[in-house]
Amino acid sequence: MTGAGGAPGGVGAARGKLVLGIETSCDETAAAVVGGAGAWAGRRVLSNVIASQHELHAEYGGVVPEIASRAHAERLLAVVRRALGDAGVGVRDLDAIAVGHRPGLIGALLVGVAGAKALAWSLGIPVVGVDHVQAHLYAGLLDGPAEGGEEGGGGGGPGQLPVEFPALGLVVSGGHTTVYRLDSSTRLTRLGSTIDDAVGEAYDKVGAILKLPFPGGPHVDRLAASGNDRAFDFPVSRLSRDSLDFSFSGLKTAVRYAVEGVPGSDRPGPAPLTAGRSADIAASFQRAAVRALVMKLTAAAEANPDVRALLVGGGVSANSQLRGELGAFASGRGWALRLPRLAYCVDNAAMIAGLGCEQLGQRGWRGDALSLTASPAAAC
Ligand code: KG4
Ligand code: ZN
Repeated sequence: MTGAGGAPGGVGAARGKLVLGIETSCDETAAAVVGGAGAWAGRRVLSNVIASQHELHAEYGGVVPEIASRAHAERLLAVVRRALGDAGVGVRDLDAIAVGHRPGLIGALLVGVAGAKALAWSLGIPVVGVDHVQAHLYAGLLDGPAEGGEEGGGGGGPGQLPVEFPALGLVVSGGHTTVYRLDSSTRLTRLGSTIDDAVGEAYDKVGAILKLPFPGGPHVDRLAASGNDRAFDFPVSRLSRDSLDFSFSGLKTAVRYAVEGVPGSDRPGPAPLTAGRSADIAASFQRAAVRALVMKLTAAAEANPDVRALLVGGGVSANSQLRGELGAFASGRGWALRLPRLAYCVDNAAMIAGLGCEQLGQRGWRGDALSLTASPAAAC
């Protein structure tokens, strides 16, 4: 279990409404407490605890839904206790409980939703259902302690205000690769999405082909740094001219053929997979994957000329090359960019609590009914 507490200002400083977030949509059991007042409401992270299940799923090369649900049920209470402890608050200090209730693995989501509803009901406080994908885009607005070597972070340093809308949003994770137009933090229109693999899934499959540990994304990222990104000319899928959709399955197959050879081909087999060749493949794959993302973002920017900001989220937003290229993309247009701090790129509950707090702040709304359910599908 990893966790961080003690956000700038601490609990004593203008903590505003305290919201506990719970996240169990896939293979991380997570809980976090956010607070903050005024423009900072929901954006000060007081604790952020993540119990990863990677070790339970590694031998299967992917997440096994039944194992994930069971592990959430076993760990949730300890994770929530630790999040409260790290934040230095008691359960009775909470004003609301936010829970990621869609999209995700249905059995996994149900554990978090049932836990959140039971806790909210017993405390007599609102429960708020939050869309996990929308929450990834809120992650760049969160403030928290910067990590080693990290510049500024997406939440900006203390004092940086949220972006002005409309904005573009890019969610890049193991399950999603989608570009949105946002007219507020909660009003999203989907502009394009992957028609096959998500970009994180492609990273993980390439990691498996290169025999790297699971999940492969961060390992491919690190390996790519020492490779030649022009060594292989991997395809960047455009689909049709006006399409803002993505496709990564052709790229993944091209990597497989480079490593294993083309099935049925009478050409000589591929060269042995040395460390140098692996690094070149990782770098060339990463160049193609990042180019595909930036290409579609550029088209989305042209189709939405009133936009002046970009929000990015999801596990792949931790990718070093993508972060650099998105920085250039935004500064070249004079746009504000909100990239999450590294701790808020992967699945976490701080983003759930933050967006839940924002939803609760909307005039006249008092949270969801206890009939709130989990759903495998995203809102849009
Ligand atoms: O958002 P997330 O934690 O879970 C989902 O909602 O899917 O994203 C996990 C994904 C995995 O595919 C992982 O390999 C990828 O994010 N990932 C990365 C990096 N760090 C995590 N991919 C590329 N480069 C990274 N540095
Ligand atoms: Zn996610």
